[in-house]
Amino acid sequence: MTGLEKIRSERTRDYNPYADIAIADNLAELADRREKCPLSYSTTGPDGFWVATAYDDISALLRRNSRGVVSYPNSPFGVTDMKGGQKAMIPIEIDGPAHYQYRKLLDPFFAPAAIAELEPKVRKVAISLIDEFIEDGHCDFVPQFAFSFPGSTVMQLMGWPLAGGPMMASWVDTLLHGVRGATEDESNAARVAVMGKVREYFIDQIDRRRRSPTSDVTTFMLNVELDGRKLTEDELYDNFVLMMTAGLDTVNSVLAQSFVYLGGHQELWSQMFESPENLDLAIEEFLRWGSPAVPTRTVTDEGIVVRDLEIPVGERVHCPLAAANRDPKYYPEPDEVRLDRPLKPHLAFGLGPHRCIGSHLARMEMRVAYEELHRRIPEFRLDETKPPRDHLGLAWGTENVHILFAPGTRDAAAS
Ligand code: HEM
Repeated sequence: MTGLEKIRSERTRDYNPYADIAIADNLAELADRREKCPLSYSTTGPDGFWVATAYDDISALLRRNSRGVVSYPNSPFGVTDMKGGQKAMIPIEIDGPAHYQYRKLLDPFFAPAAIAELEPKVRKVAISLIDEFIEDGHCDFVPQFAFSFPGSTVMQLMGWPLAGGPMMASWVDTLLHGVRGATEDESNAARVAVMGKVREYFIDQIDRRRRSPTSDVTTFMLNVELDGRKLTEDELYDNFVLMMTAGLDTVNSVLAQSFVYLGGHQELWSQMFESPENLDLAIEEFLRWGSPAVPTRTVTDEGIVVRDLEIPVGERVHCPLAAANRDPKYYPEPDEVRLDRPLKPHLAFGLGPHRCIGSHLARMEMRVAYEELHRRIPEFRLDETKPPRDHLGLAWGTENVHILFAPGTRDAAAS
């Protein structure tokens, strides 16, 4: 047995990152691992991978990026490229100086001042989405709000027609989750068809901006130069696809999961609005508690030590951020959402060079969403006849959250 086979076999405990189970059950499994074998090896997938579960290990790994680990391929099973090839996604799977260049280009669009400018438009979107179901006294919060809302926000950031938001949201849903109830082959066929439509749509938007430039991200990306050259169509496309997928599913997930929790904790739904500080604390707690992202890193240097283990070159380590953020070492009673936690920064947005570029945007979206929803729906409960269903994968989430509330009226100011 080689050294590598030995350390793998000593710590083997299989893990399915795509298991069809509830997020809470998966977290219970990860909590058990954290206690018994915090860094375990899973033989599942094409060539196996390690699973980190402790806050300290995951933060140490993410902080290392470009120093002994790389972010490509950013998936426990190896290939993430939705085009089916082995090409790194920009910027999330690019490391070192090239990654730094891409980040430098995009950072100004995600700075707090730029995000503050977007807020009034984002609020209008929230109000009009709520208008669509407020008179009914019930809704499925996921498709009717949580998913469409960040979709429209990203459209605004890009400078694309807002009316395309729901269509883009449904495309992203198919790309990320396939077709519900269909076979894997049927889902893949649907993904390929959607990729064609998405590409057509991108090219159309790019052409429009070439003809009439404005001050949006699309125009900027078209004109920007990297090493004295413009970005290729593939580079532009990658950036835009990532923006849509990263910006949509994550915000959707935290909003949806938080609504499941709030359905059973209406006192928190009131308490959140007792002061602006409370709302900020609640947002951070929901980000911690409902962290959807699960980055993966691959070791490139000899001698990377995580915990008591020297991980050899080529090994891949999967880092469920929700596991880090539920580590009782830093968050006592981690499964509870509490507004009085000691300030230990959560890892929901990751760490190191790839730390989420959209964190200010995400926080603003969540604040606006909660404010507008609470204004119109001060009390609600979950519809117990239609329980929520979760999924794991590259961003964990909840697919449906049926809620019941007292019907209200449409917002005259927005219509
Ligand atoms: C609650 C919402 C969000 C969460 C929890 C979240 C989480 C994350 C995490 C953990 C990463 C790092 C992944 C890694 O290290 O491999 C990341 C990267 C990224 N996120 Fe977010 N994200 C959110 C919202 C957004 C939004 C709204 C946007 C933009 C519209 C966005 C765009 C990106 C991009 C472009 C990257 C890649 C950054 C890079 O590689 O340098 N995210 N996000």
